[in-house]
Amino acid sequence: MVLKSKDLLGIKELSAEEIMLVLNTAKTMKYVLTTNNKKTPHLQGKSIITLFYENSTRTRLSFELASKYMSASAANISASSSSVSKGETLIDTGKTIDMMGADVIIIRHPMSGAPHLLAKNINASVINAGDGMNEHPTQALLDMFTIWEKKGSLEGLKIAILGDIYHSRVARSNIYGMTKLGAEVSVAGPSTLLPPGIEKTGVKVFNTIQEAMIDADVVMALRIQLERQKKGLFPTTREYSRFFGLDEKRLKLAKEDALVMHPGPVNRGLELSTYVMDGDQSVINEQVMNGVAVRMALLYLLTRRNSGENIN
Ligand code: CP
Repeated sequence: MVLKSKDLLGIKELSAEEIMLVLNTAKTMKYVLTTNNKKTPHLQGKSIITLFYENSTRTRLSFELASKYMSASAANISASSSSVSKGETLIDTGKTIDMMGADVIIIRHPMSGAPHLLAKNINASVINAGDGMNEHPTQALLDMFTIWEKKGSLEGLKIAILGDIYHSRVARSNIYGMTKLGAEVSVAGPSTLLPPGIEKTGVKVFNTIQEAMIDADVVMALRIQLERQKKGLFPTTREYSRFFGLDEKRLKLAKEDALVMHPGPVNRGLELSTYVMDGDQSVINEQVMNGVAVRMALLYLLTRRNSGENIN
């Protein structure tokens, strides 16, 4: 089996079978990551470019490391230090990179749909590393991989996603993916941070995190995206933490073996208490490690899709 599209633009476009193909491939890649010699020849002769118009630590670095571990040539362009700052359009920048022989361009952009526009206009594969408030598919894939690895399957799991759902591309991608894999997803947060019509995606909606967390197998807190918010969506960060922060007492509402997740970066003490963030149930550090394995898998699958090769 191969991925149907040359690009990874969103989880909305992927089938459950394609998601499982990525997860199974990532399992093999994780094995490679845990050996002493992380170098593999899978991407020898390929060029991978990261094109980031927004800041990033995890996504950008994990793509760069994934490329290098698999022997690709990897380079990074950030908008502030490129000709974008001289007024070059996204399509012209993309075509320029394409003509230099890029096989995959990984883009993060503040505008929803920017990766889709780029993908239509260039030959290289495009991976969406986060577009505005739309999707962050590679984050959702690493989140689903982490749950799948720990729980064996997502089928029938109760997953609570908490906080700023409105601005969260991570929440959107995870809702599409987790429901496709058979999980029962609940969302909760301040009513001003719940998008109208979110229930149409098949999730249960709650105004208190306590209701969403009862008997949950997985609890995922989201970052409060102060940079995307208009003022006044909640009174103060202290009040947010009081009503919607995940602390030790609230975590007891979930199952005893519930996983605590967060895509990062965490506003420590706001979305999660230090006790919960660093506690035994937290898999936040594993999410980071799995991010490299999942991105290795995606680069492998996208660059090999035409040949039909598969390592599973
Ligand atoms: N989770 C995530 O996208 O983190 P970065 O912004 O650090 O890439």
